[in-house]
Amino acid sequence: MIAPETIQRIMDATRIEEVIGEFVSMKKRGTNYIACCPFHDEKTPSFSVSPTKNLYKCFGCGESGNAVGFLMKHEHYTYPEALRWLAKKYHIEVEEEEMTAEQKERQTERDGLFHVSEFAQQYFAQLLYEDEMGKAIGLSYFHNRGLTDNVIKVFGLGYSLDEWDNFTKHARSSGYSDNVLQKTGLTIFKDDGKSYDRFKGRVMFPIFSVSGRVLGFSGRILSKEKQAAKYVNSPDSEIYNKSHILYGLYQAKNSIAKQDKVYLVEGNIDVISMYQSGVENTVASCGTSLTVEQIRLMRRYTKNVTVLYDGDKAGIKAAFRAVNMLFEEGLHVRVVLFPDGEDPDSYAQKYGSTRLQEYLKENETNFILFKTKVLADEVKGDPIRKAEVLGEIVRTIALVPDLLERTEYVKQCASLLQMPETTLQHELAKVLNRKLYDKTQNHTPDPNDKDLKDTTNGDAESEQQIQDKNDRTIERERVVPFEINPDKPQEVHIVSLLLNYGDLLIPIEQKTEDGNATEVVSYTVAQMIVGDILSDNITFQDRQCQIIFNEYAKCISEGMTHVDTQIFVNHEDKQVREMAITLMMEGYQVSNKWQEDKHIYVPKPEDRIRNDVEESILTLKLKKLDKRINDIDIQFPYAKDDDEKLMLMSQKMQLIKIKQQLGQSLNRVIS
Ligand code: CTP
Ligand code: MN
Repeated sequence: MIAPETIQRIMDATRIEEVIGEFVSMKKRGTNYIACCPFHDEKTPSFSVSPTKNLYKCFGCGESGNAVGFLMKHEHYTYPEALRWLAKKYHIEVEEEEMTAEQKERQTERDGLFHVSEFAQQYFAQLLYEDEMGKAIGLSYFHNRGLTDNVIKVFGLGYSLDEWDNFTKHARSSGYSDNVLQKTGLTIFKDDGKSYDRFKGRVMFPIFSVSGRVLGFSGRILSKEKQAAKYVNSPDSEIYNKSHILYGLYQAKNSIAKQDKVYLVEGNIDVISMYQSGVENTVASCGTSLTVEQIRLMRRYTKNVTVLYDGDKAGIKAAFRAVNMLFEEGLHVRVVLFPDGEDPDSYAQKYGSTRLQEYLKENETNFILFKTKVLADEVKGDPIRKAEVLGEIVRTIALVPDLLERTEYVKQCASLLQMPETTLQHELAKVLNRKLYDKTQNHTPDPNDKDLKDTTNGDAESEQQIQDKNDRTIERERVVPFEINPDKPQEVHIVSLLLNYGDLLIPIEQKTEDGNATEVVSYTVAQMIVGDILSDNITFQDRQCQIIFNEYAKCISEGMTHVDTQIFVNHEDKQVREMAITLMMEGYQVSNKWQEDKHIYVPKPEDRIRNDVEESILTLKLKKLDKRINDIDIQFPYAKDDDEKLMLMSQKMQLIKIKQQLGQSLNRVIS
């Protein structure tokens, strides 16, 4: 635990350009720094670091955040690790917060669970090589399955003797309490006071945390007894939560980062066999269906996942749902289907590592096309099922963030399904429209929204809140989706300024390079607007506004000082054309009105426009900030642990700070 005041001091001391500068070589451009993005492959720099906002943003891949976020992403640190790194850099002493008696007790208990797990792992591993039964049964089992002594060591495999309480006795005599034995599940306690080893007579697969601590076990049966489960796993405990852990990640993580790719398999043995075959970047979900937490864990190392399926059809279809989750979390998904009856382990053992690697390379397919093929085969000649499948596939395509990629999928899937492309396009448009609508609904800040108030002082969602949310969802389902955009007037106003006054020069007083004097520099309205909007990465919700802005901004960033607005008047997109023309006409009306009123003081157009530019950008930014704050409030109840909550809170605090500053600037501009 790091005290909140200390976190604040660390945040205050942190200069983002100094932090990122340690990992990336940057060039100064204006007030910002630019570089080639460290998170994706690029040749021209689109990674921008803003010292004034203490934020970074890549306009190529979209990665963005503050210094802490950068360290978490780039160095794979956890939140506290990132804070400690910064504290060290800026010589800030981190005193651990004094724990309450209850926290201390929990900490001691956790330590106890860690210790006994570690102890058990070492004991089981030792039996495998030093005990007669261990060697004869456990070790020979692993050898028979083709595993080498090297991978047995790398994965810390072991054997638990086939006696009722061999391990429990050994642990007790080494000073471990019944409490920790029970909580880790290593020992099972019966009501009648009897106790026995959970994993008796099984070969043992320890489950490691990302940093290599033993958290739990999976034990495989050796005999062919039908009544006993093939695998027995540790129960969830204070230290082990199976839905947050990936088997093999500790051994795989370096390779995953290096290859920028992870293979997802079904079983422990598959992970180990793949590793032994030279495919070290492999993980499995620990006997559960894939969870969001596990996906986020992978995403810390790579965005590219290849899912390996056993060759039976039932399994494949069950896994489709999990794959949709991968898409939703922004991962690139590919699949490899193994021949019927084979899994990666059996394939590797049968054909050897070279052929396994070749098989993976040759059979890797894009997930959407794979899914379409599987489903298309199934519904041949059944028009009703075909319509269902169409919906199913379009919903998956809609999860792909990139427009060009989506278009490509529509083409290929249409051909696989033997349907006209327009049918798919039409369905896709419906789904996307609905999603857009849902998003605007979710993100519209409503000052009376309970979520906004409650999450600041509590984290659990009340049942009422959940009910409210459900009600809102149902309401959304009922209405016909259409686009709602509360920011539209502001967005239109800014675009109007661009079109009507983009070339107007505005003199601005600013500090000289050395900061000792002031000088007057003239910027065009367009330079001010484009610079400001881009550096804050504000996107317009209104499609036409975004198009006009993008094309305008492109000209400006290419160094043009005058943009010919005729390009919009003659634009190929009818709606863009209409908006541009309307705004240019209206713009003149406004200025005429000022001039008609001869009795009042008419400020110089530059002054008036300058105020107008500042005011409208600030207002739009405030609205977007509200939305981001609201997003955090929505995310908050779903934070996976205290670290993530802390991070969200600190992000929110930063946003509120920016908001206050903006609010003050706005007051200055208006008054
Ligand atoms: N599993 C489990 N409990 C079971 C069966 C399976 O937890 N009763 C989990 C295990 O993590 C296992 C994975 O599901 O590794 C895949 O199961 P399965 O395909 O049946 O086993 P394999 O990995 O093929 O194991 P083996 O080759 O040893 O039979
Ligand atoms: Mn198997």
